Amino acid sequence: MRQTMKFGTLDISYDERVLRPRPWTEQQAHWAAQLLTDPAPAGPVLELCAGAGQIGLLTISLQPRPLVCVDRSPMACGFARSNAAAAGLGSLVDVREASLESALAPGERFALVIADPPWVPSDRTGAFPEDPLEAIDGGLDGLDVARACLRTAIPHLLPGAAVLLQLGAEDQAAALAEEFDELVVRETRRCEGGVLVHLTLPSPRSRPLEAGTATHDHLAPSRGSGGRPRDPAARPR
Ligand SMILES: C[S@@+](CC[C@H](N)C(=O)[O-])C[C@H]1O[C@@H](n2cnc3c(N)ncnc32)[C@H](O)[C@@H]1O
Repeated sequence: MRQTMKFGTLDISYDERVLRPRPWTEQQAHWAAQLLTDPAPAGPVLELCAGAGQIGLLTISLQPRPLVCVDRSPMACGFARSNAAAAGLGSLVDVREASLESALAPGERFALVIADPPWVPSDRTGAFPEDPLEAIDGGLDGLDVARACLRTAIPHLLPGAAVLLQLGAEDQAAALAEEFDELVVRETRRCEGGVLVHLTLPSPRSRPLEAGTATHDHLAPSRGSGGRPRDPAARPR
């Protein structure tokens, strides 16, 4: 049954076929909007795994930019389109019903990539019977779709662009930081329901000057607001 809830200033509609918007994820939109202020590059925003579109829509309602929303679920894309229209943002938003690998043209470049992949490890999804499996199942370690988001985003980043990725726990952020040494973890924030990670390409000054002299300014992810890593199974509502 179609329902509508407040997400920041927006009225967001959804039903049981898509993930119910989680209020804590407004923080991802507010941080994303902050990343779009100077000195962010000019250019559009990309939201991967957009669902009903609320995180990207709230972001561009705060910092107007063109927004491309990608999700492979036709139901999610339908809600993202109608939510964009309801917010008066329809002319800025291009919703693409596609898998991550096929959604973008080679020459497209973005100033900011927001990603909210499924991040619950497969063997723990049973704890969330009311959530659509395809919206929460992140594979063995919960990171399959997060990896695909980063692989998709990297070739489409403008110089100076940011990636703001949602995960379930700080140990997941640390694992991805190890794997993606072409990205720099700028900051990790632990929130009520998960973890947000700000990544960028290395700054030009620290790019390798010549082959074989690589000096990445890769940082270990910060510990957020402290405490032990969260259990990904503890996905709050
Ligand atoms: C955790 S939900 C996030 C939805 C929304 N951002 C939210 O916070 O409610 C993950 C979304 O990713 C989509 N998804 C999962 N795998 C995908 C893939 N390989 N390509 C595109 N979309 C995918 C699902 O359809 C689902 O809508």
